Amino acid sequence: MCGIVAYIGEEHPEKIIIEGLQRLEYRGYDSAGIMLANSDSYDITKVAGKVESLSNALSEKPAAKMHIGMGHTRWATHGKPTQNNAHPHVSQNGDLVLVHNGIIENYSSLKEELTNRGYSFQSDTDSEVLLNLIEDIQNREGLKLGKAVQVALQQVIGAYGLVVYDRKKPNELVVARLGSPLAIGIAEGAYFVGSDATPFLEHTRKVIYLEDYEMAILRTHKDLQIRNIKTDHKVAAYVEELKWNLENIQKGGYEHFMLKEIYEQPEAIRNTLRGRLLTKEGKIQISALNQHRDKFSNARRILILACGTSWHAGLVGEYLIESFARIPVEVEYASEFRYRDPIIYKDDIVIGVSQSGETADTLAALKIAQEQGAFIFGICNVVGASISRLADAGTFTHAGPEIGVASTKAFTTQITVFTLLALELARIKGQLSDAELRNYLFELENIPQEIEAFLEDIDHIKTIAESYHTADNCLYLGRGYNFPVALEGALKLKEISYIHAEGYPAAEMKHGPIALIDENMPVIVIATRKGHYEKIVSNIEEIKSRKGKIIAIVSEGDEAVKALADHVIEIPLSSECFTPIFSTLPLQFLAYYIAILRGCNVDQPRNLAKSVTVE
Ligand code: F6R
Repeated sequence: MCGIVAYIGEEHPEKIIIEGLQRLEYRGYDSAGIMLANSDSYDITKVAGKVESLSNALSEKPAAKMHIGMGHTRWATHGKPTQNNAHPHVSQNGDLVLVHNGIIENYSSLKEELTNRGYSFQSDTDSEVLLNLIEDIQNREGLKLGKAVQVALQQVIGAYGLVVYDRKKPNELVVARLGSPLAIGIAEGAYFVGSDATPFLEHTRKVIYLEDYEMAILRTHKDLQIRNIKTDHKVAAYVEELKWNLENIQKGGYEHFMLKEIYEQPEAIRNTLRGRLLTKEGKIQISALNQHRDKFSNARRILILACGTSWHAGLVGEYLIESFARIPVEVEYASEFRYRDPIIYKDDIVIGVSQSGETADTLAALKIAQEQGAFIFGICNVVGASISRLADAGTFTHAGPEIGVASTKAFTTQITVFTLLALELARIKGQLSDAELRNYLFELENIPQEIEAFLEDIDHIKTIAESYHTADNCLYLGRGYNFPVALEGALKLKEISYIHAEGYPAAEMKHGPIALIDENMPVIVIATRKGHYEKIVSNIEEIKSRKGKIIAIVSEGDEAVKALADHVIEIPLSSECFTPIFSTLPLQFLAYYIAILRGCNVDQPRNLAKSVTVE
């Protein structure tokens, strides 16, 4: 995990690095540091805490003219989140400075060798070991920085996105990548580096995403060269044009990114549907699906691999694809799949779902499936991310940048993609008539504006949050399409409010969780009109007779559940297959307002990071 930023050019880099780090805080925020350098010297500032504290610490230092910088915002893996363990790290002789995102798995054996050669360490990090390994190679083999970095990385097992500076060559930076993402922004006479492209959006639109085992040396006013770390071959640079703009990644008047992103859902879903939902023609156009139509038609089964919220979206995908297209679907946590010697058939389609496209477990699981011959289809939000590049085909959600650590619009847009896929697969497999498809398409097209109408009045959800923000536990129940939504609602609440919450299929309640229900237990029940309605009404009766407090998510115009529940939140009436998109919204608001009332930092919850690039 962790976020890294670097700059080499003619400008003073402090502002560039600090603002860049702030944009990368979704990757971790337990300590931060910066190096600023010119041709004569460098200066390092580090703090335990967030980038804001780093910025305060810098403001107390005298400003000198600098033109190179690198910064780091950390999510601790090896070593506590202290100032000492914060990056940048300095090598033993003081010449080399490094920021690193990733894990050096063989660091303890490397550390032992270096200790035997007289090295001592200032931090508990694996990154400092890597840096001293580079210094040791320079000393022993008389190599320049770039070559020494390359030789060191050939000895390393693990993952890295890194930047190294050598004060003996103060006009260059060496960058490299394996497993952890690294983007290079190219401007007139300057280079920017970031764990993603957001740190340099306002400075340049030209970006190169390094691939695994690639490294580059960046020098002001010089063309960059990319090399393969293993083979030493030159690699042609593929320069892409950035599409996101600065406005997309700022709060735009909202108090938190999470709230902004909840409200962005109508637009995000419109963008997901754009060009793909051709209502007038009665068609769905997903180019990757069209290109590989035979693969999908002949698939023995579809495996969906993901983590966290994306895994919940995958579960909704399973319900959609099985019921519409009648293709068997299995959904698995990527972290389990990659270590359990799974059976993969050549005619399997494996769908990887990931907002960031960088989640280490999902990426590794997809690689395993690909190596065993499966066809990989990626559903990602971040264009250019590792999973989208690994996939044989795929589609982007186009939700726009999601900065809040708790995923919101990524989830509803992933479900939207699954809905499109399921409907189109159903058409291809002859499971849906043209008329049926057309009806669904009309309904789908209206979803963004129905969400807009829902978002206009959410004051009653605030009131419900006021009644329950002191709860210690919470239960979420749903059936069918809304069982994964119950899981997602519980995840949202626990990750941002730190209230213990569990999601269950409503009928499972009788097999255990019902023992927890008493007058102190809020139970959120998703009871949409067209989905197993009578059965869920019975479940609500069971909760009520045990004095549980019922917050029901119901379809507009509901009567039966209203009569039973303590609180109701109405969502637009729709076909059952579309309800997850609507039923998710009140659960996002409920988690948000409860977290605010508890004084929690909703955008940066404790212990979490937006993009989990370590396993
Ligand atoms: C929860 C959340 C996480 C992510 C998970 C996978 O709100 O955001 O559970 O869904 O870490 O991340 P991606 O989708 O980037 O692979």
